[in-house]
Amino acid sequence: MAADNNFFVSLDIGSSKIVILLAEEIEGQLKIFGHGIGPSAGVKKGLIVDSVKTSQAINVVVEKAYSSCNTKFFNVSVNISDPHLTIINRKGQVLIADSVITEKDVELALKSAKAVATSTNKQVINSVPNSFIIDKDPITHRGVEVDKPVGLEAKTLEANMHIVIVSNQAVGSIEKSIRKSNLGTSMIVLNSMASSEPYLSQDEKDNGVCLVDIGSGVTNISVFTNGGIIHSAIFKSAGDQITEEIAYAFNTSFNEAERLKIHYGNAQVKSLREDQLIEFKQIGKLEDYYLSSYSLVEVIEQAYLELFSLIKKNLKSKKLDRSLKSGYVLTGAGSKIQGCDELFLRSFRVRSKLGQVDTGKIDGNEMIISDSTYACALGLLLYEPDESYLEQLQPDNTVGFMSKIKGSLFKF
Ligand SMILES: Nc1ncnc2c1ncn2[C@@H]1O[C@H](COP(=O)(O)OP(=O)(O)OP(=O)(O)O)[C@@H](O)[C@H]1O
Ligand SMILES: [Mg+2]
Repeated sequence: MAADNNFFVSLDIGSSKIVILLAEEIEGQLKIFGHGIGPSAGVKKGLIVDSVKTSQAINVVVEKAYSSCNTKFFNVSVNISDPHLTIINRKGQVLIADSVITEKDVELALKSAKAVATSTNKQVINSVPNSFIIDKDPITHRGVEVDKPVGLEAKTLEANMHIVIVSNQAVGSIEKSIRKSNLGTSMIVLNSMASSEPYLSQDEKDNGVCLVDIGSGVTNISVFTNGGIIHSAIFKSAGDQITEEIAYAFNTSFNEAERLKIHYGNAQVKSLREDQLIEFKQIGKLEDYYLSSYSLVEVIEQAYLELFSLIKKNLKSKKLDRSLKSGYVLTGAGSKIQGCDELFLRSFRVRSKLGQVDTGKIDGNEMIISDSTYACALGLLLYEPDESYLEQLQPDNTVGFMSKIKGSLFKF
């Protein structure tokens, strides 16, 4: 969360649009009280390529957000979608000096896990502790997995971290654009990690789930198993690619193809009740042409299936395609095409659904909460580095100590 006095501000710099949301915390729930949305500029496939144009586009949205609630702000939480990101899951182990784990031991174990050598043009942007294992046997590699190690008796502590590394250039251009707009950056969060926040429950994260954010320039995914994040990836294919396929197939401009997609689009030919003739304009022709809704949807279905196969291939290469009991949760405005979840289900054969915001966590204008265009901006408001692992188990809780030890006791 980006604290600005007693409220939080998020800035989603997308390839097609920019969103700003303002929210305040009331009794543990975030309430949105201000918003602005406008076209993006200077962003290609998730990356800022012209920070002057991006900053000008941000300024327009800042003004809209300001006039929506008459509140000035400075610090913002912002997203990053660097298609060249590297993800590492890393372990760090420490010996416990006084046989009882202290906060310092936990911090040392995390520091050792985080001590990853990056090339000079890259940097660690997010590092999330996933699990802690005490007394791991060096031969059998077995140990006890715990959520909150502080105060427990142990000889060794191992921390497992999910580390996200992106290019300095991607971070630099975000910071530059924000600075040019006279704003400050309080936190930069990987797009899919932010988008996961409003939609995924703890149960889903425990059972294994993949969040898929289909934008305009890029599709972001994050995979969670055993409660923590273990994989993220960004594909340079999303809604714009679908539109380009339509433009190519029917010899139309991008804008005309976008109109056809939004007004007549469907993800599955089999969902169409009847064929329909659609009037449209071809490039360089004055007269109107007609195409059949079947042929339009055929192109759209094929283009979405190609995108889905990229995701499938990536997950298969990480051996994650079969371990997601809670399946897939889709968001991003590219998922708004009619029947997107059904096509995804058909393609992956695992449960798939459109993301629905947990209004217990964040609430506000229904138009915002129910629109997947706002997924990342909502998630940036909710995203907060979790430091609950530093809490000590209270003496009262020690009776239930075994129940605090996660699911299966032993980890290989
Ligand atoms: N009803 C709809 N049917 C199909 N596609 C849609 C619909 N509404 C919006 N889109 C597509 O969603 C895409 C925009 O999604 P979104 O706003 O999530 O992208 P972004 O955040 O700006 O970009 P990115 O995340 O890729 O940087 C566009 O390609 C647009 O055509
Ligand atoms: Mg986006």
